[in-house]
Amino acid sequence: MRFLVTGGAGYIGSHTCVELLNAGYDITVVDNLYNSKRASLDRVKEITGKDFKFFECDIRDKEGLTKAFKEDKIDAVIHFAGLKAVGESVYKPLEYYDNNIGGTLTLCEVMRENGCKNIVFSSSATVYGTENESPLNEEMKTGGTTNPYGTTKYMIELILKDLYVADNEWSITLLRYFNPIGAHESGKIGENPNGIPNNLLPYVTQVAIGKLPCLTVFGNDYDTPDGTCIRDYIHVVDLAKGHLKALEDSFKSNRVEVFNLGTGNGYSVLQIIEAFEKACGFKLNYKIGPRRAGDLARLYSNPTKAKEKLGWVAEKNIDDMCADSWRWQKNNPNGFED
Ligand code: NAD
Ligand code: WQD
Repeated sequence: MRFLVTGGAGYIGSHTCVELLNAGYDITVVDNLYNSKRASLDRVKEITGKDFKFFECDIRDKEGLTKAFKEDKIDAVIHFAGLKAVGESVYKPLEYYDNNIGGTLTLCEVMRENGCKNIVFSSSATVYGTENESPLNEEMKTGGTTNPYGTTKYMIELILKDLYVADNEWSITLLRYFNPIGAHESGKIGENPNGIPNNLLPYVTQVAIGKLPCLTVFGNDYDTPDGTCIRDYIHVVDLAKGHLKALEDSFKSNRVEVFNLGTGNGYSVLQIIEAFEKACGFKLNYKIGPRRAGDLARLYSNPTKAKEKLGWVAEKNIDDMCADSWRWQKNNPNGFED
């Protein structure tokens, strides 16, 4: 079987490519390299010892995308490609709607034209909005997103659900990721943000390596045991494996299915710092700062549905996540730039 992976050169995509290749599947990667480097694909080849097809192409380029579908029969698409910076999306809403929604529309058109009606989509816990109490389960109300990025994820979920209503030959899987961190245990691939990182773990690793002077903890006056926010951090390799389980399930019947991919465990920012210090063996330079606008005190999953229906559970713990993030950063101080 062959799967087409959009955004396969990116952080989660590259780890998923490794798992797909290791499981013996053929893959075709489509990525415009807007937020990634070709080197990550070379590393995927190094780790797996396997080759695969790569199209440097924007998913909004219908002609380019069609070429990838014409070369081989594609059995399903795993759709990672998109812009993902929450803060940036507030300043660039048109770019986010165009890339994320426009890209998905073109992708689905090309899939339909080529008789491929199976898509696994990278959604996000952000679609649960701000009203639901954690642990979050798939039955809870979605919407009420607070930034254009989150709204693109919510809207794409609606679009894909409508697609199934119109044509129930589609099999649609919406995977709601919580907070992916960590890296492949080889230390060869990992998260490689452009500029100053927005997310906690890449910021932590860059402070640890000396690229950034100090981490600011965004608020310690939340209603949580240590006052800092709680999140459901999940190892990117566990997340990647979740995609394989979701794919297997997607061929059993045509349906729309939604799954949370999280561990179900919440960790505070201070607990992450402590776990990271244990992994790297020294103290991290950090200070307590004001709250960041839009942050919720606690956000974590109920991952029961994925366990029961997919037989998937996250296996790696917070120490593994921190150790692997650190190994990646230490081995590649400048990411894929070396
Ligand atoms: P990433 O930026 O590392 O990977 C996305 C990849 O898509 C990049 O390689 C980028 O070059 C490519 N891309 C973007 N727009 C494209 C386009 N128009 N055509 C072709 N390629 C394009 O991000 P990631 O962290 O690996 O996230 C993957 C997916 O998972 C995204 O859709 C993201 O929104 C979603 N997601 C990420 C997180 C997270 O915290 N990392 C959480 C929930 C959901
Ligand atoms: C985690 C915790 C911060 C940086 C975002 C998106 C979400 C999803 C995952 C895509 C929070 C704190 C952070 C720092 C800090 N992405 N923090 N200092 O906000 O939970 O989720 O990424 O779908 O949609 O919103 O992740 O890594 O930014 O923050 O104290 O320098 O770390 O306040 O409590 P977040 P994050």
